[in-house]
Amino acid sequence: MKIAVPRETFPGERRVALVPDHIPPLTKKGLVVLVESNAGDGAGYPDQAYVDKGGQIINQRGELFQQADIVVQVRCLGANPQAGSSDLPLMRNGQVIIGSCDPLSNAPAARQMAERSVALLALELVPRITRAQSMDVLSSMATIAGYKAVLLAAEYLPRMFPMLMTAAGTLKPARVFVIGAGVAGLQALGTARRLGAVTCGYDVRPVVKDQVESMGAKFIELPLETAQAEGKGGYAQAMSEEFYKKQRELMKKVVAENDVVITTAAIPGKKSPVLITADMVQGMMPGSVIVDLAAERGGNCELTQADQIITAHGVTILGPTNLPATVPSHASQMYGKNICNLLALLITKEGQLNINLEDEIIRESLIAQQGQIVHPRIKEILSSAA
Ligand code: NAI
Repeated sequence: MKIAVPRETFPGERRVALVPDHIPPLTKKGLVVLVESNAGDGAGYPDQAYVDKGGQIINQRGELFQQADIVVQVRCLGANPQAGSSDLPLMRNGQVIIGSCDPLSNAPAARQMAERSVALLALELVPRITRAQSMDVLSSMATIAGYKAVLLAAEYLPRMFPMLMTAAGTLKPARVFVIGAGVAGLQALGTARRLGAVTCGYDVRPVVKDQVESMGAKFIELPLETAQAEGKGGYAQAMSEEFYKKQRELMKKVVAENDVVITTAAIPGKKSPVLITADMVQGMMPGSVIVDLAAERGGNCELTQADQIITAHGVTILGPTNLPATVPSHASQMYGKNICNLLALLITKEGQLNINLEDEIIRESLIAQQGQIVHPRIKEILSSAA
């Protein structure tokens, strides 16, 4: 069985789906790993490093797809809407495609791939259960995004993070407020604290209070009715506009008191809630920084523009949408490990493909098979859009 690693084609994407160290455990099982030439360059893994670990370099993308039984990608069509479409004619009947494909926001792309009769596994739909943690790219990439968000904030803040007592006087530590304490938010709190900031965090899911405190941060309590805030799979539910209005009012003072605000509040498949208005930005100290990790889905700050750095009322607002690609070596290492762990579920000891629908992880991440969309939620999205 042949596993192919194409070069990523999304603009600015520097990650690669497998790094050289992932190859030996696969070849040990009798699998052949094919890598498109220069696929690892952006992440610091040259072709020779793949060859040294037992991979084979293929120069032509068409030939790579032609030979592959399984194609593993960081972003396949859906998560790479423009350039990804040129891969469609290369896909062939019965081939397995594994990658991020943004199925909840871009279900039509999943249908296009289904029409090529491939079996498509969407990494975003791997369930958030304990057994699947080692395959969870949302978590591994959110870890990197949370870390990098703090470094970005530190770069743009005209102050230092740690408290310093020097001969030139005492410097107060930076104050950092993180909104949304999921994987990215908790990593941001940990990173900011390690840099010496005084940190606090808020989340609509009250269960995260202990996790925020375990990162050395203060949990901000807001008098909001949050009993219904946690939905299926531990994700936050979309709340009413009235709820968000009240949340904004209650958070206004906390936002104004902090030098850095990092926002990560997301609702899967939906636009992100606006939690910081232009008025709240105006209330912040000039020089303050907002890093909006929800920028890809509209942003948590009213003034955020995706992948832009803007200044309003002296406040710098950053809306990066692909921070993991800015740490491509480690991001690829983690991403590839997640993929390898998923491959271990899909390939038997004898090296045969086994798409076992009795396995919850496979069933929940499999979107398309034999020309059909098989995932109930994606089917529903497509039929309600029709
Ligand atoms: P996410 O990226 O979907 O959202 C980020 C955070 O924003 C969440 O904590 C959410 O509650 C919060 N949020 C949403 N609306 C908000 C608002 N209005 N104000 C403040 N915060 C708001 O979250 P992520 O990191 O993907 O985690 C989602 C869930 O999955 C969590 O319950 C997490 O513990 C769980 N999880 C489970 C794993 C496992 O067991 N395998 C692995 C990773 C996460």
